Amino acid sequence: MRLAAAGDLHVKKTSQGALQPLLAPVNDHADVLLLCGDLTDYGLREEAAILAKELNAAVRIPVVAVLGNHDYESGQQEEVCRILTDAGVKILDGEAYEIGGVGIAGAKGFSGGFGRATLGAWGEQATKRYVQEAIDEALKLEGALARLRTRQRIALLHYSPIRGTVEGEPLDIYAYLGTSRLEEPLNRHPVDVVFHGHAHHGTPEGRTSAGTPVYNVAMPLLLQRYPDRPPFRVVELPEAPPSETEAALSIARQTASSKQPPLVERPAGPSDRH
Ligand SMILES: [Fe+2]
Ligand SMILES: [Fe+2]
Repeated sequence: MRLAAAGDLHVKKTSQGALQPLLAPVNDHADVLLLCGDLTDYGLREEAAILAKELNAAVRIPVVAVLGNHDYESGQQEEVCRILTDAGVKILDGEAYEIGGVGIAGAKGFSGGFGRATLGAWGEQATKRYVQEAIDEALKLEGALARLRTRQRIALLHYSPIRGTVEGEPLDIYAYLGTSRLEEPLNRHPVDVVFHGHAHHGTPEGRTSAGTPVYNVAMPLLLQRYPDRPPFRVVELPEAPPSETEAALSIARQTASSKQPPLVERPAGPSDRH
């Protein structure tokens, strides 16, 4: 399964025709397109309609997305969702979704800072509400991850779960670009890869503290870092080795169907092709 991911398309009222040449190559490079939020610039229904047209004209593979903070700007996020859903885009907001044997847990996420600098729920009610929003988004992600039943799993976010992929932005705004609260569920429910956007001037690649690859796929970052490539990140998931249960069942079946001792095949190891 080849995954293409991009975030921060920031489609405007004037974007008609601009996105098609950027996205069209995705059909030859991937089996599914993942969009990591800030799909629109002001969260307007007109912008969503333009994006829907652009996707329909250029993209022939399934599209799965989360919203970003910009998609909430005008209070029209439900209509933005409906317009994109009607155009065939699967929008995830704390849901688990399976496509081609790959499980996708998607949530927007929120900000609040990283590591020891993570903002705590202490003091004013306004601070506690802000932190609660980050906790609620982390719980949405955790719920979605816990429902995944596939061997191959990925997480789709707008905000970053780690500090590493926001590095390059001004230090003063790190805390607004993501939060370690999103990393905790990823460590409890491991995934193969995490995609996020939002940090337009961050770092394209990082890892969670448990070693899971994290890709910042903000389109402005990809265009700036890799000007000769299409502005999406392609990751090919290696074929997952069978689980212990599946391997045991396979051996039992072989034993039952032949009197010969079962052949134990070496499971396919992880590939480093990305
Ligand atoms: Fe953005
Ligand atoms: Fe954003």
